[in-house]
Amino acid sequence: MAESITRPQGPYLSELVQGYWRLADWEMKPQQRLRFLEQHVDLGITTIDHANIYGDYECEQLFGETLKLQPGMRGQIQIVTKCNIKLCSAKFPLRKVNHYDTSSTHIIESVDNSLSLLGTDYLDVLLLHRPDVLMKAEEVAETFTKLRKAGKVLHFGVSNFSPSQFALLQSRLEVPLVTNQVEINPLNFSVAHDGTLDQLQMLRIRPMAWSCLAGGRLLSGGDIQAQRVLSELELLKEEIGAKSLDQVIYAWVRQLPANPLVIIGSGKIARLKAAVDSLKLELSREQWYRIWVASKGHNVP
Ligand SMILES: NC(=O)c1ccc[n+]([C@@H]2O[C@H](COP(=O)([O-])OP(=O)(O)OC[C@H]3O[C@@H](n4cnc5c(N)ncnc54)[C@H](OP(=O)(O)O)[C@@H]3O)[C@@H](O)[C@H]2O)c1
Repeated sequence: MAESITRPQGPYLSELVQGYWRLADWEMKPQQRLRFLEQHVDLGITTIDHANIYGDYECEQLFGETLKLQPGMRGQIQIVTKCNIKLCSAKFPLRKVNHYDTSSTHIIESVDNSLSLLGTDYLDVLLLHRPDVLMKAEEVAETFTKLRKAGKVLHFGVSNFSPSQFALLQSRLEVPLVTNQVEINPLNFSVAHDGTLDQLQMLRIRPMAWSCLAGGRLLSGGDIQAQRVLSELELLKEEIGAKSLDQVIYAWVRQLPANPLVIIGSGKIARLKAAVDSLKLELSREQWYRIWVASKGHNVP
């Protein structure tokens, strides 16, 4: 099921990635977390997406406790995690506003902390979580080199970066960035129009797509835009032989020519199985654009 990222020097990442942002909300006991991990690895979903801040800084630790129950799992998975957001939290009582930090000190501290919480001695991929207007590309590049030479991080990427922010950082790096993790769903696909996906396609770098279901909001049909998309999804589900609406959405996201890796946000194995089954689904160009039109509420120009 899984494929490696297109660039030969890139890391192996599975076609579907399991997101762990909501891990703390799943309220699983340690053995249930282990079972969940084993089950999605068995499904071929071997890449895991984390961030230091997930679950108010708790998710990496919960995951690390899970890995400790079955240390052999580490060799079967690829861990992606992120740094550079500093959130106000009871854990950081002196912090006054949420902000970003791409200083060498923060990146190194954050990586060391993630390694310790996750209970691993290397990260497969480290992403800068959000663009930071105070980012000094030179300093980040030197820091990435240090982390790579120390064997702490194998590959680097970014998240929510514009094409120029991506190009700026890449211009100072010795190794290629391996992804830009961005929001892609039928309610928000601005990256398909602002040059972000064009740049990745040009460089043959696969994006990672977050919140493909708009955090679940799309399926609950909240506002008028979501209702329009939902009606079209219902029709397409029948036409392409999908079993559920999420499958149509995953097929729609994956059909973008930059070839996104879909990050699944659900904590339910049945929904992960549905995602795996969606890999064989395809939409015609017209079917694809019907979602575009439903989302925008007008025809293409
Ligand atoms: N880089 C970034 O800035 C960024 C930002 C946000 C997220 N992310 C990453 O992307 C991952 C996915 O984001 P997301 O959680 O917002 O993804 P999502 O797939 O848009 O939303 C998942 C949510 O939708 C619910 N849901 C309802 N019906 C569903 C269905 N039929 N199938 C699957 N889920 C359904 C899930 O609940 P159940 O658990 O009950 O199924 C879950 O709460 C995160 O875990 C994180 O790793 C990255």
